[in-house]
Amino acid sequence: MELRDEVKSQFDKAHRLAKKFYDAGDTGRARIEYLKCARFMQQLAEMSPPDLRPDILERSRKFSEIADGLKEGNIEVFTSGVKPMEPVPQSTHKKDEDAARRKAHSLVMVERPKVRFADIAGLEQVKESIKEAVVYPFLYPEEYRYFGVSAGGGILLYGPPGCGKTMLAAAAAAECDAAFINLKISDIKDKYVGESEKNLREVFAIARQQEKAILFFDEIDALASERSGSSEGHERSLVSELLMQMDGLETKGRVRSLVLAATNRPWAVDIALRRPGRFDTTVFIPNPDRAARRRILEINLAHKPLSGEVDLDALSEKMEGFASSEVVEVCQRAARIPLRERIKENKPRRQLTQADFEQAIRSMQPVLPAWYQLSLRELSRTPEVEMFDDLIRAARRYIRQ
Ligand SMILES: Nc1ncnc2c1ncn2[C@@H]1O[C@H](COP(=O)(O)OP(=O)(O)O)[C@@H](O)[C@H]1O
Ligand SMILES: [Mg+2]
Repeated sequence: MELRDEVKSQFDKAHRLAKKFYDAGDTGRARIEYLKCARFMQQLAEMSPPDLRPDILERSRKFSEIADGLKEGNIEVFTSGVKPMEPVPQSTHKKDEDAARRKAHSLVMVERPKVRFADIAGLEQVKESIKEAVVYPFLYPEEYRYFGVSAGGGILLYGPPGCGKTMLAAAAAAECDAAFINLKISDIKDKYVGESEKNLREVFAIARQQEKAILFFDEIDALASERSGSSEGHERSLVSELLMQMDGLETKGRVRSLVLAATNRPWAVDIALRRPGRFDTTVFIPNPDRAARRRILEINLAHKPLSGEVDLDALSEKMEGFASSEVVEVCQRAARIPLRERIKENKPRRQLTQADFEQAIRSMQPVLPAWYQLSLRELSRTPEVEMFDDLIRAARRYIRQ
């Protein structure tokens, strides 16, 4: 495993444990795990390109703040910072709902992303439809009211892994200056009957506390009822709860929260969510075309020492079929070649060469061929897949080339 991946996975583990201990009310151990999170973030920052470092260091600092706050025992956990706990009005909430709310707070990350649409390569049409569905309703609510165009509903982003779904959702929040609430469905699932629904209600309650919020449900396929197994009825009601909560956001004529969902496994998305009117906008996020791959190279090489002979066009051509995240990875791997020579062999500093990139490209094993094959296979035996037509077309093209 790459060192960076190793640190990331250690971070993920500490983060998971921190939330778990926090949930269980064990703030002492939660604090230790949050301190570890801060340390791993710092290590990650050291391994990252200079342009990414400030953001990562900022996250590291916030984890230290959270840990400090836990010592004081008077804060709630937000990645966007540490907020003093607001007193919950006792008269309107039962005790167990308070407990659920505290728990939901610890599951939920309320972020203020910095990434903007301009940082996302390609996907111009996609950005435009997201603007219409998400950004403009926030920016021009009177116009939507005047023309009687309803805002709200939901947007479902689907497509191959590593091609910008999460990034788009975060950028959408940044574009309209909304809080970004990002969670995986698996984070809110609970084995006890009724608990998952309660978690989901609490997540929406947190969104409603924000001035403006974008709720992003990643891995929305995990919401689906499993075909076998006894939990079917239970999870069916989780789907209903989501639809009910989404309907609830439209009241009062003022949009304050919008819902985005994403999946790499559209065939597994619950059929109830696939029917018209549930997710009003369904957007396919394809793998990057040549121009987009070139742009991703430019973005990621902006602060790296490049030799004049490096031919970005030729490299973008060679990365046909790569996911965006794999193009980013190629930049990292290429840069590590002269870095290693410098550190381990004490060679003089040198610029990145075309050969470094070619070696990096050869070392990759793109995941999309298998993913597109799987999509075609799965979608061919899934009912009501009209909304995923774009994927079927893209998969046929991808496999033919
Ligand atoms: N369109 C894009 N332009 C630039 N970078 C991208 C793009 N899509 C993905 N990336 C890079 O790949 C990483 C993973 O993307 P992400 O949005 O998490 O993919 P997904 O959610 O579709 O699996 C991002 O953090 C970013 O570095
Ligand atoms: Mg993602």
